[in-house]
Amino acid sequence: MTRHLVDIASLSAVQLREILNFSIEAPKAALSGKGVALIFEKPSNRTRHSMEMAVVQLGGHPVYTRGEEIGLDMRESVEDVTRIMAGYHAVIAARVFRHSFIERMVAVSDVPIINMLSDASHPLQALADVITMEELVGSVSGLTVAWIGDYNNVARSLTEAVCLLGGTMSLGCPSAYDADDDELARLASLGGSVRQCASPQEAIAGADVVHTDTWISMGQEKESAMRRKIFSKYCVNASLMALAAPNAKFMHCMPAHRGEEVSADVFDGPNSVVIQQGHHRLTAARGALKWVMEKS
Ligand code: CP
Ligand code: NVA
Repeated sequence: MTRHLVDIASLSAVQLREILNFSIEAPKAALSGKGVALIFEKPSNRTRHSMEMAVVQLGGHPVYTRGEEIGLDMRESVEDVTRIMAGYHAVIAARVFRHSFIERMVAVSDVPIINMLSDASHPLQALADVITMEELVGSVSGLTVAWIGDYNNVARSLTEAVCLLGGTMSLGCPSAYDADDDELARLASLGGSVRQCASPQEAIAGADVVHTDTWISMGQEKESAMRRKIFSKYCVNASLMALAAPNAKFMHCMPAHRGEEVSADVFDGPNSVVIQQGHHRLTAARGALKWVMEKS
């Protein structure tokens, strides 16, 4: 059966661990002589470079294409693009606005589809986050991980990963930008434990690792002024970090906005592991590509 990486929650805990194990193994020629399509409807630094270099390290050839060049559902349908590219490439990876585009690709593709960020999720980021936490802090099953800010695509994938691996997730999000009851029930069914807290102070209390992300995700630019106001009490600064466990690590998927979701002293401080985290996007990309290339 063709393997896809759409969401962390579409994996079993065993499959998630398989990808993590593949990530830390030495590169193999899993893509020797093969192409990988990298389609980007949104900008990227980390995702593009880590995926391109992972493809090269695995012996393949990446082909980067901007969304406007292909025109998903504008120049031609998502299905036609996917079926044609599946004849050229061993893997199709896409960064899209609408998660449904990824699902439509999966429905017609006989090669693996990898979600490189959608409005719903960012599984490659969550893989790098787990690799970083396990390397620098300890097994996720023993950790309390706080998320401060918007319950967005990055938050959803991270929470799914922490739950699947048996950890504790503590969410501190403004109301209406948090996980609703159905979402909390879905997360609870994955394993581990998840709690939604009334304030960022409550969410961060005793946490071993603290994550945040931009208040304004790509595509939400028109909401910038309103979001800056709503999220103004959710800046991860030194006084908030002081409530976490001693020497708690600070993490951020980046791009970061110093003075908004995180203060400069925390982002650039001694407990920040954001650069290691960003570098582990390459580790994670190798693991994901190797995993989808294996037949179930
Ligand atoms: N974290 C992340 O996905 O970064 P880019 O948008 O730069 O790829
Ligand atoms: N939540 C952010 C993540 C960027 C990597 C966005 O979707 O823009």
